[in-house]
Amino acid sequence: MSELHLGLAGVGRIGAMHAANLATTPGVGRLTLVDADPGRARAVAGGLPADGARVDVAEDVAALLRSGVDALVVATGTATHPELVRAGVDAGVPVLCEKPVAPDVALSLPVLEHVAERGGVVRIGHQRRHDAGYREAKRAFEAGELGWLHAVRALTCDAAPPPVAFLATSGGLFRDCSVHDFDVLRWITGREVVEVYARGSNNGDPEIGRVGDVDTALAVCTLDDGTLAVVTASRYNGAGHDVRLELQGSLGTVVVGMDEAMAARSAEPGTTFPAGPAHATFAERFAGAYRAQAAAFVDLVNGTGGEDLCRPEDAVAASRVADAAQESLLTGAPVAVRALQVAGA
Ligand SMILES: NC(=O)c1ccc[n+]([C@@H]2O[C@H](COP(=O)([O-])OP(=O)(O)OC[C@H]3O[C@@H](n4cnc5c(N)ncnc54)[C@H](O)[C@@H]3O)[C@@H](O)[C@H]2O)c1
Repeated sequence: MSELHLGLAGVGRIGAMHAANLATTPGVGRLTLVDADPGRARAVAGGLPADGARVDVAEDVAALLRSGVDALVVATGTATHPELVRAGVDAGVPVLCEKPVAPDVALSLPVLEHVAERGGVVRIGHQRRHDAGYREAKRAFEAGELGWLHAVRALTCDAAPPPVAFLATSGGLFRDCSVHDFDVLRWITGREVVEVYARGSNNGDPEIGRVGDVDTALAVCTLDDGTLAVVTASRYNGAGHDVRLELQGSLGTVVVGMDEAMAARSAEPGTTFPAGPAHATFAERFAGAYRAQAAAFVDLVNGTGGEDLCRPEDAVAASRVADAAQESLLTGAPVAVRALQVAGA
């Protein structure tokens, strides 16, 4: 099998990490980068390992697509995802786009319709589906080892907030951050969230409130079989980047993220677990998952795997829960989550 030529649009915070992963993923022979800031694209290209794929920089996305790429990875800001996913689909190449599909569900639906009409192959970057802990939790639940679930608790806490300029365009804490928890909730349980009741608070940098976001939030979710789940998130977790999922069942309980790097200290005298150090960032916590996601995408493009990559309709279903949580946060009332209808799918 000949080696792939991949294109990557956007090499900012997460795109630079994708560049490093893609350039060293087996089966990738060439990587073409593009960024709205050409200097950034050149700098990222220059910093990639010399023993990885051949790396070059395109002038713009159209030039990148004309250069004969076999597939496109999109890691630009969320607002540009719809146009770049469309561009990749129209060029006839598979696309892996960072989450979310679009800033909100209303803007996502035309993208799903376009992908369905053109028969496009599009997957969305929900990397937790490739994380060893989340995969084990899903296996244990599906194997019946936990019995029926009486409670699910998911949390995502950043050690420190990203730049306020990023938060201003992120769609809010639920859409930017908890959407990963909403995705794994659906993926692991196989159930739909039917109602969300959310609250939020702002005790940190007042600028976060001024751009319309909260720094801490909580959503009580009811699944379609009556199971209850609580999803919490914060931008201020001094103990480190803390991502956990607890599945508590009638027969057993599993906890994702309960290893020596868990960003918490036991209050029990004499207990030395977890020994640390805690993860500092999402990039560190999910380094292995991002690499596995890149490898899965290469398999998908080669037609040899990639089944666990998140499909766009699943990503939008998770975004629908995030939208409902955001609406509940603003109205103070529980919000019903409507099922997804995609014309042409
Ligand atoms: N899966 C995850 O865990 C995860 C984590 C962080 C961010 N994200 C997602 O990744 C995306 C990017 O986030 P980020 O934090 O890296 O943002 P960022 O602002 O750091 O980087 C975005 C980059 O895209 C470039 N860009 C913008 N428009 C472009 C265009 N039309 N063509 C080419 N380049 C363009 C910008 O110049 C910038 O370098 C967001 O959609 C975010 O939701 C996902």
